[in-house]
Amino acid sequence: MRPDIKAKPETVESSDEEPRENECPRGSPVSETVIDFRPMLPSDVEWVMEIERASFPYPWSQAFFYQELKVSCARAVLALAGQRAIGYVIYWLVSGEIDIHNLAVHPRYRRRGVARALLRSVIGDAKVRGAGRITLEVRKSNTGAQDLYRSLGFAEQGVRKGYYSDDGEDALAMALDL
Ligand SMILES: CC(C)(COP(=O)(O)OP(=O)(O)OC[C@H]1O[C@@H](n2cnc3c(N)ncnc32)[C@H](O)[C@@H]1OP(=O)(O)O)[C@@H](O)C(=O)NCCC(=O)NCCS
Repeated sequence: MRPDIKAKPETVESSDEEPRENECPRGSPVSETVIDFRPMLPSDVEWVMEIERASFPYPWSQAFFYQELKVSCARAVLALAGQRAIGYVIYWLVSGEIDIHNLAVHPRYRRRGVARALLRSVIGDAKVRGAGRITLEVRKSNTGAQDLYRSLGFAEQGVRKGYYSDDGEDALAMALDL
């Protein structure tokens, strides 16, 4: 996941602004039953960038998201609470395998099962499409995300030394065989 910074990193912005109209109020419970999913559209990218910048020290650029949305083997799923984009997952289906490229949840909506629900949607899609495996890379320091993947059955496949070109951090390769 996120192997290279293919576009210029952007400045990290804080996300502690007040909720906008139609947002869930801060701290309101969000369960899987009230989360909607739909494909991400180019018009969503502005919201997505807010989540991206708040989630990664070296965020993808807006241009890179637009590029991903044009790739024919790519799928981008948005999680919504009401009208509000609160998370997303981007993955590619290539040669019978799914590779997850990006996953993030808005800081205000974390630890409520949003990422798990997004990953379950990927697993469901993999089964429908007959994909036998889901792969991803995760920073060695990102133990929270690793716990999330393990909780869904992903297993460690090895370490990719210096995988992240931005700061040279190692990645853990993980996979789920279906
Ligand atoms: C990693 C991330 C996507 C998790 O999103 P989330 O919606 O908060 O995750 P969930 O609520 O679905 O968590 C499910 C389980 O994963 C594990 N988990 C998730 N975040 C965790 C954290 N920060 N620390 C420890 N365990 C964590 C827990 O087991 C959790 O279950 P629990 O809350 O019942 O204990 C989110 O923290 C994020 O966007 N982080 C920044 C971007 C990122 O690291 N993306 C992944 C790149 S590989």
